[in-house]
Amino acid sequence: MASLGINLDHIATVRQARRTVEPDPVSLALLAELGGADGITVHLREDRRHIQDRDVELLRGTVRSRLNLEMAATAEMVAIALAIKPDMVTLVPEKREEVTTEGGLEVARQLPAVKRICTRMCRAKIEVSLFINPDARQVDAAAEAGAQFIELHTGQFAEHHGNARNRRRELNRLIAAAEHAHSLGLRVNAGHGLNYENLPTLHAVPHLEELNIGHSIISRSVEEGLAKAVKEMLRLMKGYRSG
Ligand code: PXP
Repeated sequence: MASLGINLDHIATVRQARRTVEPDPVSLALLAELGGADGITVHLREDRRHIQDRDVELLRGTVRSRLNLEMAATAEMVAIALAIKPDMVTLVPEKREEVTTEGGLEVARQLPAVKRICTRMCRAKIEVSLFINPDARQVDAAAEAGAQFIELHTGQFAEHHGNARNRRRELNRLIAAAEHAHSLGLRVNAGHGLNYENLPTLHAVPHLEELNIGHSIISRSVEEGLAKAVKEMLRLMKGYRSG
């Protein structure tokens, strides 16, 4: 069975909508671990739209499983990673205008820069994963860069899951990329857009070590918890007598 990394960015998105203290991704990381999560993943974006520096610092001190820091390949983020020392960094492309990470990292196009980051992380004993599209050219570049892991972008697979022919095509791309990566000695993770419906189909992809899942698990936790939260508020409201 592959291990499960829970992406907590969406919890921080709700908190940042009010710039308040709840819900707190740091305390909820503990609950995710209690639920059996094998790792906690957070994306510290350049614009700090959800996860904040404080979250990453506190998570480093409290996460008992594995902390995976998603980040852009920039000097600022490299300095933060080297200071905080997560167990792993996942390099992702980042655009200010995107709602979520849209495509995979163009490793082939920025090979020297990615190579330098891999070397620096390796010296600091931080593992590196590269979030890439299921594409042989990117897999080759990831191996050449010296990363230990790739994370296959499953966004297209998730998007086309409803159509049998397109689903098969995207699944084949993932299978081919995972096999190719494995043959080059890369370890293989996957993530983006995975949910309770499309996950069983992904079992056809070989060599997967870890799946990173955020939105669908956080959504499910809201669905499961809302009735209880409403009941609790109603219980408090019972104390009120008008007039
Ligand atoms: N992996 C990476 C590299 C991501 O950027 C994201 C989204 O933040 C995920 C996994 C999780 O995606 P989702 O929230 O759609 O499960």
